[in-house]
Formats: sequence, structure tokens, C-alpha cells
Amino acid sequence: MGGAIRRRSIGTLAQGAQARYRTDDQESHKRFTRRNISLQTQVHAAAAEAVLSAMRIALYQPDIAKNTGTILRLAACLGVEAHIVEPAGFPTSDRAFRRAGMDYLDRVSLVRHASWQAFERWRRDAKLRLVLLTTQAGHNYLDHRYAPDDVLLFGRESSGVPPEVHAASDARLIIPMQPGLRSINVAMACAMALGEALRQIGGFPRLG
Ligand SMILES: C[S@@+](CC[C@H](N)C(=O)[O-])C[C@H]1O[C@@H](n2cnc3c(N)ncnc32)[C@H](O)[C@@H]1O
Repeated sequence: MGGAIRRRSIGTLAQGAQARYRTDDQESHKRFTRRNISLQTQVHAAAAEAVLSAMRIALYQPDIAKNTGTILRLAACLGVEAHIVEPAGFPTSDRAFRRAGMDYLDRVSLVRHASWQAFERWRRDAKLRLVLLTTQAGHNYLDHRYAPDDVLLFGRESSGVPPEVHAASDARLIIPMQPGLRSINVAMACAMALGEALRQIGGFPRLG
């Protein structure tokens, strides 16, 4: 499958692990990455091997849990790794997601970053391209050439992303809308952009 790689389904961090993970801001990125991977592998050692698309999505400080739940379900179904850039406007622990009825949680490869800076350290170290979906762009998302090393970033429901995040992005894309309308729901925007990106790189799960 073009643009797809076989990776262990790493799932989310467990509660105890998450508490330690949150300190990553004070640590070197290398140490954080090593520890993060090993914790995730420990937590979900029994998880089945999953075929994950190489493409990733990221949510910048999301503030509506239901939208995040919808997006994580999409990520699980399409085999795409999801990243949350914290702080979020709601608790993002496993327990909180489960309480909110996130029944696909065990099937999501989810990585939480304690801050924008921590996310950027991870992304730059992994040499991934940041593709921001924003209403403040002039480039049509259908005209962009997506690549397996893209991270598709979506802004928070209340305010999108700050200028610093705009500036750090390698590409800024808009889903064209009717004049005078503000924005598309973030989960819908994610489905549209991810669908186009996976179509281009041949990243959808195989049928059968
Ligand atoms: C509800 S919107 C945020 C609206 C916010 N007031 C703003 O100006 O960015 C949440 C996120 O969905 C995505 N989004 C919504 N509509 C979009 C569009 N037409 N084109 C690209 N991204 C869009 C963006 O990532 C945006 O940050």
C-alpha cells in the first residue's frame, strides 16, 4: 500500500504513564521519545499489529471533547496516528475519554504533547512537514500535493491557531467555503482534508 507502513498500534498512555509523560517539557527530547515509545509499548504490549498510514493528524489545543472523540474515531478507522497538542479544554486522560464514551480508544494510536514546544521538538526531530488547515489561507487544500511525512494540523474550535503556529507551518491550506461563512466544524474539516490526503498518497486501508 502506497504511503502506508506497518507499526505497532501503540494506543494511548495509561494514567500513571501519562503523569510521567507530562514532565517531558523539562527533559531532553531524545530521552522523552525513548521513554514515550517504551511506555506505550509496555502499556499496549498485547495490542495487535496495525497497518497505519504514514500520514498523521494533530489537534492544536482542542476545546470540545466531542469533536476530538469524533476525530479520534476517524483516526482509528483510517489507521492514522493522532497527536494532541495540550493544553486541551477538557481532560485527555484515558479515563476521561472512556467516560465520554470513546469506545475506539484501544484502537487509536494517540500521542499527547504537553505543549506546542514539545510537539515541535518531536516533529522537527522526526523531520515531518507541518500542514496547517486554516480559514486564514489562500491555498486550496485540493491543490496541495500531500506526502506521507505530512502532519495535518487543525486549530482549536474557539480560535484556530496563534501566529506562531501559522509561521511554523510548511503549508497553510483552506477548504473553500461560501462567502460570509466562518468555518467548518473541525471534525468535518479533518475528515475532508485527511480524505484527500490519503487518497493522494494511497493511504486508505485495503479492502478485504
Ligand atoms: C471551528 S474552526 C476555528 C475557527 C476559528 N475561529 C478560526 O478563525 O480559525 C476549527 C479548525 O477547523 C479547521 N477548519 C475549519 N474550517 C476550515 C476551512 N474552511 N479550511 C481549513 N480549515 C478549516 C481549522 O483547522 C480550524 O482551526
